[in-house]
Amino acid sequence: MSSQGQPRRYFDNAATSFPKPPAVGAAMVRYMNEVGAAGRGAYAEARQGAAVVQRCRERVARLVGSDSPERVVFTHNATDALNLAIKGAARAFAQRTGRRPHAVITEMEHNSVLRPCNELARDGLLELTTIPADPATGEVDPADVIGAAAPGRTAFVAINHASNVTGTLQDIAAIGAGLRALGEDDDRPLFVVDASQSLGHVRVNVREAHIDLLAFPGHKGLLGPTGTGALAIVRGVESRLATVREGGTGSVSEQDTHPAMLPEKYEAGSHNVVGIAGLSEGVAWLLERGIDAVREHEVALMTPLLGALESMRADGVRVLGRAPIDRRVGVVSFTHADYAPAELASILESEFGILTRAGLHCAPLVHRMLGTSPDCSPPGQGAVRLSLGPFLQREDVDAAVHAVSAACARGAAA
Ligand SMILES: Cc1ncc(COP(=O)(O)O)c(C=O)c1O
Repeated sequence: MSSQGQPRRYFDNAATSFPKPPAVGAAMVRYMNEVGAAGRGAYAEARQGAAVVQRCRERVARLVGSDSPERVVFTHNATDALNLAIKGAARAFAQRTGRRPHAVITEMEHNSVLRPCNELARDGLLELTTIPADPATGEVDPADVIGAAAPGRTAFVAINHASNVTGTLQDIAAIGAGLRALGEDDDRPLFVVDASQSLGHVRVNVREAHIDLLAFPGHKGLLGPTGTGALAIVRGVESRLATVREGGTGSVSEQDTHPAMLPEKYEAGSHNVVGIAGLSEGVAWLLERGIDAVREHEVALMTPLLGALESMRADGVRVLGRAPIDRRVGVVSFTHADYAPAELASILESEFGILTRAGLHCAPLVHRMLGTSPDCSPPGQGAVRLSLGPFLQREDVDAAVHAVSAACARGAAA
């Protein structure tokens, strides 16, 4: 309950999903209390741990259309998966060609793509091209992305599938097809997709979109616990992806260099077996329900939410990035003429029990493009973000709309 007695309604699913299906926590507690082993070894509990990890790999592989569970590599989160994709691809390119790699990214990227790329660029290890987006919708023109990529020069193209600020979906199928048309050999740029806000919300299939490396968290749309994520690596791409971390794998221990087989090549150190046990149940829930049903529910919530916020325009509300419903996910950010976003978020929480996320959402280029970044003139301060999840209901959305409307009417009257 909020301090005013209302129920607390969680609208920060873009940060991490909550609640989780009950089976997620139950599987974690059961593993922790009844199994416990790290999942490597020959005794029964160790084999049980390995089976838990393998079952999760199989479920995730099914969800993303990977042809083999071994091609799903577990990471700590999406950031970790993106660091592996970006740094591993850049390093392998430099090793193979002896040249500095080039990469193409977009203005819509999260810091988990921007920062690793900028770090490499600062050290002279990457040349970067950033493709602008349409400020009205947040969409990037696939032709601009494909046109900036050159076989033999561009190591990878990395793109955010769904924006964590505007919810905008990019046309990854068109970009993937265009990049494939540049050639099929080792010279073609690898296609890296950040599916942090799309996987578990819309259909994502590595084969259909010609994705080489799909990075995603386990703790957002896949409904698993924090501390989980994965990188799906399409067959053959491992020869173009160097390791960024080496260590123990519980296999070929006589060898003092890191093994080349998957998934061990990219999984140094002990697994987060407890987390993976939970993630497995989150993915099972999604597979059972079906992405189409999850999407339908999200659209049924997103449509009235967007409609209501848009109708408050005369009261000072501005919705950021207005892509049509079929080209966006349930991440809705807005500003109000009379409130700093942090102030409005605080009122929504303390008076109405609505939990939102205010600020720049780790996406500085998106906010600069929208004029809501602190370095814009007049100074902006980000936005308030409402992000949907599968356990929210229409009454939650109605309560959020009522809260925004009441707070904004008061702001306008003050
Ligand atoms: C678009 C996008 N990419 C990457 C990330 C990073 O995800 P994680 O917190 O799992 O590292 C986020 C998280 O907010 C995101 O929204």
